[in-house]
Amino acid sequence: MIKDPSLHKFDDRTELLAHRIFEYVLQRIRMSPAPLDGPLTPQQLAEATGTMITRYGLGYDDTFRLFSDVLAPACISSDHPRYLAFVPTAPSEASTLFDLVVSASSIYGDWWLEGAGAIHAENETLRWLAGLAGFPAGAGGAFVSGGTLGNLAALTTARDTWRRKHDRSAFDGGLPLAIAAAASAHSSVRLAAKVLDIDLVAVPGDERGRLTGDALRTTLAAVTDREVFAVVASGGATNTGLIDDLRGVVEVAGERGMWVHVDAAYGGAALASSIGRPLFAGIEGADSFVIDPHKWLFSPFDCAALVYRQPALARQALTQHAEYLETLDATGEWNPSDFAVHMTRRVRGLPLWFSLAAHGTDAYDRAVTHGILLAKEAARMIEATAGLELLMEPQLSVVLFRKRGWTAEQYQAWSDDLLARQIALVVPTVYDGESVLRLCFVNPLTTTDDIQLILTELT
Ligand SMILES: Cc1ncc(COP(=O)(O)O)c(C=O)c1O
Repeated sequence: MIKDPSLHKFDDRTELLAHRIFEYVLQRIRMSPAPLDGPLTPQQLAEATGTMITRYGLGYDDTFRLFSDVLAPACISSDHPRYLAFVPTAPSEASTLFDLVVSASSIYGDWWLEGAGAIHAENETLRWLAGLAGFPAGAGGAFVSGGTLGNLAALTTARDTWRRKHDRSAFDGGLPLAIAAAASAHSSVRLAAKVLDIDLVAVPGDERGRLTGDALRTTLAAVTDREVFAVVASGGATNTGLIDDLRGVVEVAGERGMWVHVDAAYGGAALASSIGRPLFAGIEGADSFVIDPHKWLFSPFDCAALVYRQPALARQALTQHAEYLETLDATGEWNPSDFAVHMTRRVRGLPLWFSLAAHGTDAYDRAVTHGILLAKEAARMIEATAGLELLMEPQLSVVLFRKRGWTAEQYQAWSDDLLARQIALVVPTVYDGESVLRLCFVNPLTTTDDIQLILTELT
């Protein structure tokens, strides 16, 4: 018998490690909020850790201590209630704990053959999201690592579908292919165009940067040198939180046989909120969308739901074929690998499924609605604070405002100081060419007291 148990043996030390890890996780969850913390320089970290990868290993105790005492405090807690920069995260206790189960279960999430039970649960979760968007019963897709990969997969499918419909490729004498989007579309849309080696036709946004059907129609009418096969609309632009004119975009794209992809990576969670859903009117006519539960649906990193109206089109575009996979092709089952640019995949939709199934959709409605209401409350508080000026009424959970007279350097210095004093992470952004401040609310534990604390720091 040949066997090597050097890494795979269960003994007392393993059991102690399990308890230690569980204690750490419980403490991390109970500690609300966990410290904000902040980065160190590479040199500081190298000095603090010393060499960690050694020939004979450091043992569980010392290695875990390195993580808990040195490495973890050098990472910002993005679930801190006063982490209001970029797009924060706020995983529910249930989803965080269940993530441990996902890791411990070694479920291969790509093929029904191996992951049937887990994929069934993921698919019900995807169907819930598809239903919120008003997609038909046959809609579906897969959980991928993030909005970036979701956008890439959807646009790859859109291109493949267009080519098959038009029976030609961009390389056989046809016009170069392109997608259309407003400048407010997320940077990952531009990256997807680059990866796909296609052009991006920039549609001028309205006075607040939103993509509208009218502007899309006017822009497309003037494009004669490229074949625009898809348009990407934002279901919540990251910088402003504004939702594009989805209905108008769908209408114009329909006239031209174009694919509509809604990048709702940040804002799509608001479909689960009874006050958020009406803002997405028109999304039901799109061909695909992506929503990141790791942003505003209380799931741990990394989890993005990619949904197609007609998943068969994605399967045609993205299924990988190989001799050793033929046994899977023959089954015709639902294999998540067929719907995105990936193969091996953890069943990253399960933490969301567990928390959603356990708590029910009403709890999700309330938790997402909290973020929308908090943004409105923050807007009123900014208006009531001398020296501050609200830039626009928030639509979802992003609030943009300025401190009158401040320069980019002053915003940055203030932001750095706030983090250094462990008060909050609030960073400046640029809106309409001007440095301003931006708050993004997704954490149901954030309160108006937290907002007041930050605004007081500006007065
Ligand atoms: C609208 C939008 N799309 C795409 C992305 C990229 O998502 P991810 O970071 O999950 O790849 C983001 C990230 O903030 C986003 O806000």
